[in-house]
Amino acid sequence: NKGHYEHYMQKEIHEQPESLTTTMRGRLIRRGSSKSKSVLLGGLKDHLKTIRRSRRIVFIGCGTSYNAALAARPILEELSGIPVSMEIASDLLDRQGPIYREDTAVFVSQSGETADTLLALQYALENGALCVGITNTVGSAIARKTHCGIHINAGAEIGVASTKAYTSQIVVMAMLALAIGGDTISNQARREAIVDGLYDLPNKVREVLKLDQEMKDLAQLLIAEQSLLVFGRSYNYATALEGALKVKEVALMHSEGILAGEMKHGPLALVDENLPIVVIATRDACFSKQQSVIQQLHARKGRLIVMCSKGDATSVCPGESCRSIEVPQVEDCLQPVINVVPLQLLAYHLTVLRGFNVDQPRNLAKSTVIK
Ligand code: M6R
Repeated sequence: NKGHYEHYMQKEIHEQPESLTTTMRGRLIRRGSSKSKSVLLGGLKDHLKTIRRSRRIVFIGCGTSYNAALAARPILEELSGIPVSMEIASDLLDRQGPIYREDTAVFVSQSGETADTLLALQYALENGALCVGITNTVGSAIARKTHCGIHINAGAEIGVASTKAYTSQIVVMAMLALAIGGDTISNQARREAIVDGLYDLPNKVREVLKLDQEMKDLAQLLIAEQSLLVFGRSYNYATALEGALKVKEVALMHSEGILAGEMKHGPLALVDENLPIVVIATRDACFSKQQSVIQQLHARKGRLIVMCSKGDATSVCPGESCRSIEVPQVEDCLQPVINVVPLQLLAYHLTVLRGFNVDQPRNLAKSTVIK
């Protein structure tokens, strides 16, 4: 049921404040200011010790689920101190890459049925790794076959393009990082800031959803373009990949997410006064590096659309022609949840304006199951 919305993708984008609330329900602990703030993940509690002892954590997924894991990787590394590696399921299988008994392999999948992810799970089980599932579908193959896991609880996602599952996956993995990190004194301030940030996240998403009309106007401007680049780095490299995936998947426009640190190693050659480029430059430890990227793109007459934190537009945007998208600032590791929303809205409006099917994009199915 789409309610008063025209499309499932639109509904699912707009219900993210509620889906995030459901994802976190009963899992955050905040017992007064003097007591500690932490998380409780029932499905993992018997395995946390093993996970903390593992030599490596490997995230495995496809498409949007892979991107969600990539967004969560920095905070998992920071809080756990365990090396985290990333695997696209099909690529791990193609290479028959090394997976060890001492590894914790985390399988991320909205449907819990994606063929490549499922085959990679089989492979990791055969290699003796502890296998953790993060899925949105209770009783799905991945939920059943993993040793333990966390349900995303984002509610049914009908649109082929994954939106609310993505933001809920990031939140689940941030909570996973908190759980693995445990209640060490050294991490206390950071842990508490993240827990507070999680509590406040649905409100911040509500705020960023107000950009709907602005994103529709931007879509109108980009309607006839051939291509769109999205530059991000650190926490928001995943946002660049995910924003570009949404645009290509539903709006059928070529789009590429680019790691800003790689700009000089090839992508800079594409920059001219015609190609639109979104640069994600919200406040975090890499902010000044992104400012410098913006300057360099501007020097080459790049057609810039800068996503920045509220109040930064005038200082971050060079020149009159630069457009800005101002978003609320949250704890750095949660910022990808906020930053992806305007890009989801942009992809949605571009698709409708270009006259394509939003909920069932050409050639794609909701999950690629084994037949
Ligand atoms: O169900 P899964 O999360 O395992 O699906 C993985 C990908 O097929 C999926 O995320 C796909 O990339 C989405 N359609 C993107 O919106």
